[in-house]
Amino acid sequence: MSFREDFLWGGAISANQVEGAFDADGKGMSVADVASYKPNLSVEDYAGHNKVTLKMIEEAKEDQTTEFYPKRRGIDFYHHYKEDIALFAEMGFKALRISIAWTRIFPTGEESEPNQEGIKYYKSIFKELKKHNIEPIVTLSHYEMPLHLSLKYNGWVERKLVDYFVKFAKVCFESFGEYAKYWLTFNEIDSVGRHPFTTAGIIPDKCPEGKIDEAIYQALHHQYVAAALATKECRKIIKDSKMGCMLTKLTTYPNTCNPEDVLLSLNSNLGNHVHADIQIFGEYPRLYKTFLKNNGIKIKMEENDEEILKENTADYLSFSYYMSRTESADTTKEKASGNTIMGVKNPYLPSTEWGWQIDPVGLRISLIELYDRYRIPLIIVENGMGAKDVIEADGTIHDSYRIDYFREHIREMKKAVEMGVDLIGYTSWAPIDCISVSTSQMSKRYGFIYVDQDDEGNGTMKRLKKDSFIWYKNVIKTNGEILE
Ligand code: BG6
Repeated sequence: MSFREDFLWGGAISANQVEGAFDADGKGMSVADVASYKPNLSVEDYAGHNKVTLKMIEEAKEDQTTEFYPKRRGIDFYHHYKEDIALFAEMGFKALRISIAWTRIFPTGEESEPNQEGIKYYKSIFKELKKHNIEPIVTLSHYEMPLHLSLKYNGWVERKLVDYFVKFAKVCFESFGEYAKYWLTFNEIDSVGRHPFTTAGIIPDKCPEGKIDEAIYQALHHQYVAAALATKECRKIIKDSKMGCMLTKLTTYPNTCNPEDVLLSLNSNLGNHVHADIQIFGEYPRLYKTFLKNNGIKIKMEENDEEILKENTADYLSFSYYMSRTESADTTKEKASGNTIMGVKNPYLPSTEWGWQIDPVGLRISLIELYDRYRIPLIIVENGMGAKDVIEADGTIHDSYRIDYFREHIREMKKAVEMGVDLIGYTSWAPIDCISVSTSQMSKRYGFIYVDQDDEGNGTMKRLKKDSFIWYKNVIKTNGEILE
């Protein structure tokens, strides 16, 4: 057994990290447009409450330049999309995961009519993909909700957001349904807990004293309901559609066989899976309900919310996988230095320059675990390695470290498929260099395609093929059989 013949090989990008043109053609400001450049970000800064303040947001809003806000310029995919899609096609992509910037369609989120310029822009993207026979996998919300909704309602804490999101989703299905069959609702829905502003527009200053956790769980509830209602609309509007949910797969190991370590890792894995449980099994797990109760967290639910969740579950589970995490009851243990998740350092694993521990076997473990638990098709919608690349005098870029990373992960993925895991696609993050979500750096490069732009925004935006470009092309051509 090997990868299925129609396996969706490709790459994944998000609107807020590639498009740029943050104020073009009627686009409103999104939460990503106020994310500043943070080259020295530590896990303490990133995790928890992300240290976003109302003052920071107001100041960013006042400053309409792109200098300290790199996501506003992205890699100018907005104007380079034809060239970029042609390069993806040259690699043989079968699929491209993109996201729709909500603020191009509804600039503040509250308009009664959509912005036609935004619809026109995405239609041209879909037409370009169709021209190259590339299947779109469309994320409705990838860290780019309208800033207005965040400031006015404290983001997803307010129930109104459900209606606004479903209205946006309906416009997307009606406008783009003829081009796209694969959809997914929220990028890494579980990340509301790790960075509530980026994912759900929650501004800690706006939460009553000591109530940030309650705000997070309330926002999550609203997103689950919105995802279910969007799924319902998608099925009504697009024939044969497939709607997925998405998880950051944070496979956690116990640091030792000390039962206390095992218990910590168990809780960590349960806490990660709960978001998929709700969207795939259609109900809050009993353990989760007890956890909320024991922690004094009260979630406001409307009368038919449980029914909505039960009746509109996901068709497939998509997930991102970058690294594993290790838990220890011993608080003196050295912490892993990755800038997005906490945990202790796993001595068996190497790390990237950003401290993300590289664990290909962890991907196989994740696939087996997820398929055994949910028994619906899986798509890996993000996997990749941020690294600094060097351009040689002749313009070549020898990124053997990136090839090694992908080779080992795809090899493990293949072993999981050989065991019977129903994996239908793999979209690497990101096939082209883009602005890092956590640090807003350009120098944290993920692509098979190099983009000539530095952290300050200097450069020609010229696209160059790295060695990994040819390598991935061959992987796709041989359907994952030749990885050398
Ligand atoms: C995922 C996000 O969590 O990680 C992507 O969905 C992001 O948007 C990716 O780019 C890598 O993170 P970073 O911070 O290195 O860009």
